[in-house]
Amino acid sequence: MAKIYDSGDFSSFVASRRSTRDFQSTPVPDELIEEIIADGLTSPSWSNTRPFVIAVAKGEVRDRLSNEFLSRFEAIKSARGEGFFAKLKAVLRRKGLPTSNWLIIRPYHKDLIHRSKRVGKEMLSHIEIERDDKKGRDDFWARNYEFFGAPVELFLFTHKSLGKFASSDAGLFMQNLMLSAHAKGLGTCAQGSVAVWEDAVRKEFSINKNYSLLCGICLGYPSDGKINSFKAHRINPSEIIVPLKK
Ligand SMILES: Cc1cc2nc3c(=O)[nH]c(=O)nc-3n(C[C@H](O)[C@H](O)[C@H](O)COP(=O)(O)O)c2cc1C
Repeated sequence: MAKIYDSGDFSSFVASRRSTRDFQSTPVPDELIEEIIADGLTSPSWSNTRPFVIAVAKGEVRDRLSNEFLSRFEAIKSARGEGFFAKLKAVLRRKGLPTSNWLIIRPYHKDLIHRSKRVGKEMLSHIEIERDDKKGRDDFWARNYEFFGAPVELFLFTHKSLGKFASSDAGLFMQNLMLSAHAKGLGTCAQGSVAVWEDAVRKEFSINKNYSLLCGICLGYPSDGKINSFKAHRINPSEIIVPLKK
C-alpha cells in the first residue's frame, strides 16, 4: 500500500502563504537561506536537469543593487514627467531603460488584464493610495527596488536552451522555496519588477551567459506593515478548467 505522508493541514498551509511586501531589517542566517534553497531543490525537474541558477544578494551587494535599481527607476520617472525631448534623451542614453525582459513593460493581453487590474486596484485601495495619486503609486512601485526592506534578494536565472520548460522548473523550485520560507516564519515576494535590469545583477555575480534572469525573490522576516495584511483575490478552479467541446 502507498505510504501516506503527514502533510498536516496542507490546504490551510498553502493558502496561508501570501506575498510579503514589507520586511524587518533582521538578517537571515546563511544556514537558513541554504536550507530554504535545499527545500526548493526537492521540486520536480525536466529530466532532472535543474536548468536554473540563483544569485543571493545580501549586505553591501544587496544595497548596491537596490541603489542602482532606484536610480534607474528615478530616471524613467523623470523622463516620463518631461516632454518629448527629455524622453528622447533618456532613450538615447538608455538611461533607466530595460536591458532585458521587455515583455514585462508591455500591456497585458485582454484575456488576462482584468485579473491584473483587479489585484492592482485592490492592493492600492488596501493601503489607501488613490488611483489618481501618481506620486503615491510611483513611491509604492519604487518599494520593489528597495526589495520592500528585505535583507536578502534572490535572483533566479533560467537556462535559455530549455525555454518554457526551464521557466516551469524554476517556478516549481520557487514555490517550494517560498513554502519552506513560510514554514520557517519568513516571508517572500516574487519580483518580476527587477528582471528588467539583468545587466546590473550580472555586474555583481559571475553568471554563465547561457542563463537569463527570470525574476527576483525578496526574503526576510515580515513586518507588521499594513500591506502585509493584503489578501489578493484567489480564483475558483472553474475559471481555469476548460469545458468539453459540444
Ligand atoms: C513571477 C512573479 C513575479 C512577480 N512580480 C511582482 C513584483 O514585481 N512586485 C510585486 O509586488 N509582486 C509581484 N508578484 C507577486 C504577485 O503579485 C502575487 O503573487 C499575486 O498577486 C498573488 O498574491 P499572493 O502571492 O499574496 O497569493 C510576482 C509574482 C510572480 C509569480
